[in-house]
Amino acid sequence: MSDYKNNFFNEDCITGCQQHLPDASVDLIVTDPPYGINGGALDKHYHRKEDYVIDGYVEVPPEEYGEFTRQWITEAERILKPGGSIYVISGYTHLYHILDALRQTSLEEQNHIIWKYNFGVYTKNKYVSSHYHILYYTKPGATPTFNTYVRYGAQEKDMGGGSLNYQDREDVWTINREYKPGQQKNKNELPTDLLIKIIQYSSNPGELVCDLFLGSFSTAKVARGLNRDATGFEISTKAWQYQMKQMEQIHPGHLLKKIRTPETTLPENQGKPWSEAELQRLESRFRELSEDARTKKQIIGKLCEEFGRGYFGILNRINSLKSE
Ligand SMILES: C[S@@+](CC[C@H](N)C(=O)[O-])C[C@H]1O[C@@H](n2cnc3c(N)ncnc32)[C@H](O)[C@@H]1O
Repeated sequence: MSDYKNNFFNEDCITGCQQHLPDASVDLIVTDPPYGINGGALDKHYHRKEDYVIDGYVEVPPEEYGEFTRQWITEAERILKPGGSIYVISGYTHLYHILDALRQTSLEEQNHIIWKYNFGVYTKNKYVSSHYHILYYTKPGATPTFNTYVRYGAQEKDMGGGSLNYQDREDVWTINREYKPGQQKNKNELPTDLLIKIIQYSSNPGELVCDLFLGSFSTAKVARGLNRDATGFEISTKAWQYQMKQMEQIHPGHLLKKIRTPETTLPENQGKPWSEAELQRLESRFRELSEDARTKKQIIGKLCEEFGRGYFGILNRINSLKSE
């Protein structure tokens, strides 16, 4: 086995995994396999000028897709550590092969995420297709890493009083593709924000993130940017050579300043008993705010700020006021 940490191989990922990656060596796999539709059709779909797309994207013939998927997913299962996570990004054409292959492993399904993006495939006489599937599975044998509060604290609310943490962890994600006029890119380059989200929730600094289909090395670039180690495979020599030079420009940790720090402090009065005076003040403020055109969520959000209390503390008091 060679030194695979922060090393990227210009090889087929199935034989490459067998040669370079030991059993249980990887903490997180994030990968976007070829779609099994011919390259020309892809160009048509996305209505793009092809001048800036690096050629060298290698497709898998549709008739081989099922067996190809089964083989690389078997390798993915082997290289993951117990408790490790895998996210597979897929269109719908061959989704059934990927689901079938995942279900033949010991990997456990956690979520089937829908990623909605902009610039969908324009169609006139049917619905516009503008989503991908992200299949999130974990390997049994240890507790998976899931950093629930790494992006939004438990108490953080939006303007209407909704929980930001809950919203960020819903399984429909709206994340736009990046528009990079005049820059070279791989077909289907994944957005940085999508990769940051996955890598933050499902790995810790210093852990190893692997992408079996590197393309433009977007997973590896974000992983290094968040101070994780990275490894992976890209079969196209042209794409690999170009991106190996790009990787030299990536400074480990450079994305850390881009990510938000969650607010973890509890509201100052949370958990403290309510005084009679405070309850009376709450009742009168609730009635005043209800006269304005505000939703209940907005009113509670405002009262949380004014009373230094948590959302459910205020909600329970308001419900008991109403029933009195
Ligand atoms: C959908 S793209 C990946 C895009 C990538 N996630 C990005 O953000 O740029 C799939 C990539 O897998 C590569 N590929 C195809 N067959 C492969 C194989 N057997 N082993 C490794 N890479 C392969 C293709 O050349 C292509 O670059």
